[in-house]
Amino acid sequence: MPTYHESIMKNEVLHYLNIHMEGVVVDGTLGDGGHTEFILKNTGPKTRVLGIDRDLSAIERARDRLQPFRGRVMFAHGSLENLRDLAAQSGVTRINGLLLDFGVSSPQLDTPERGFSIRHDGPLDMRMDSSQTTTAASLLEKLKDVELISIIKNFGEERFAKRIVRAIRREQAEKPIVTTSHFAEIISRVVRSPKHSRIHPATKTFQALRIAVNNELGQIETVLNDAINLLESSARIVAISFHSLEDRIVKTFFRKEERGCTCHPKIPICICGNKQTLKILTRRPLCSSEEEIALNPRSVSAKLRVAERVYV
Ligand SMILES: C[S@@+](CC[C@H](N)C(=O)[O-])C[C@H]1O[C@@H](n2cnc3c(N)ncnc32)[C@H](O)[C@@H]1O
Repeated sequence: MPTYHESIMKNEVLHYLNIHMEGVVVDGTLGDGGHTEFILKNTGPKTRVLGIDRDLSAIERARDRLQPFRGRVMFAHGSLENLRDLAAQSGVTRINGLLLDFGVSSPQLDTPERGFSIRHDGPLDMRMDSSQTTTAASLLEKLKDVELISIIKNFGEERFAKRIVRAIRREQAEKPIVTTSHFAEIISRVVRSPKHSRIHPATKTFQALRIAVNNELGQIETVLNDAINLLESSARIVAISFHSLEDRIVKTFFRKEERGCTCHPKIPICICGNKQTLKILTRRPLCSSEEEIALNPRSVSAKLRVAERVYV
C-alpha cells in the first residue's frame, strides 16, 4: 500500500462543504486525492468531483487511488489560475462547492528529486508542475538582488534576507548553486536557528523561494474571483492555508465579497454597484485538533476558512 499525504481536517471539510444535492464539487488542489476520496465515500452517487492539480504525478497517484469511484470523478491537469477553462474543458459550468488545500503535499516534500526538501539532498527545483521552465536554481540566477531580498523578506517573513542574499551572491561568484543541501548550507552559515529550536535556519528562505517559483500567492485571488462566477447559490468555498500570507489573502477576499458595496459610509446611495457575493461562515479560522496535530504534525499551522455564495 502506498503511503499517501495525510489529508487535513477531513471531517470539517466535508461538514462545511455541506453537499446535499447532485452536482460537481471542485477539489482545486487534488494532491493524493484524500479529501476527494472522503467526499466521494460520504456522498451519494449523484455527487461528482472535478480534481485539479498542477502536478501530473499527483493526478496519476490520485487516479489510482480513486479507481473505485470512476464515473464520479474527473481529473484536470493545470493551475488554479485557470479554473474557469479547466472546468469548461471538463464540461462543468456550475459548481456546488470548491475545496482549496494550499501548499505542498507530503510526496512533493518527501521526494528529494523534486527539490523541496531541506533535509534530503536533491536538485534545487521546487516546481509543482515539472513542465514549467523556471526552477528555484534558475530563479536564483535570474533575479536581481532587490527582487530576491524582497521575495525572501516578504514570502519567507525572514528578517535576515539581505544577509542571506549577500551570502548567495558570494557563493555564486565561486560556483553555481544547484542542489538543496548546498543552498541550505549557505544559509546556515549566516543565519542561526533560535536556541533549542529544531527548525532549520533555511526553512523560511526555502518557503519563500517555493512560493515564488510556483507563483502560489498570485493565484489565490484569481481562483477565488473565478469561483464567485461558477458557484451555485448556497455553495461553499472551503480554503485551508498553511501560512499567514495565504490566510490573509483568503480572509481579505472573503471580507471584501461579504461587504459588497465599497462606497464611503457617508454616501447615502451606493454608486459603486458592488454587491455582496459571499457570507462568511467562520469568523475565526478553524485549526486542527490536538489529536490531529499529534498524529500529523504538518497540520499544526493549518487554518480553515469557509464562505457561502449568496445572490442578493
Ligand atoms: C496540500 S496538497 C493537497 C492534498 C489533498 N487535499 C489530499 O487530501 O491529498 C496541495 C496540492 O495542491 C497542488 N497545488 C498547489 N497550488 C496549486 C495551484 N495553484 N494550482 C493547481 N494545483 C496546486 C499541489 O501540487 C499539491 O499536490
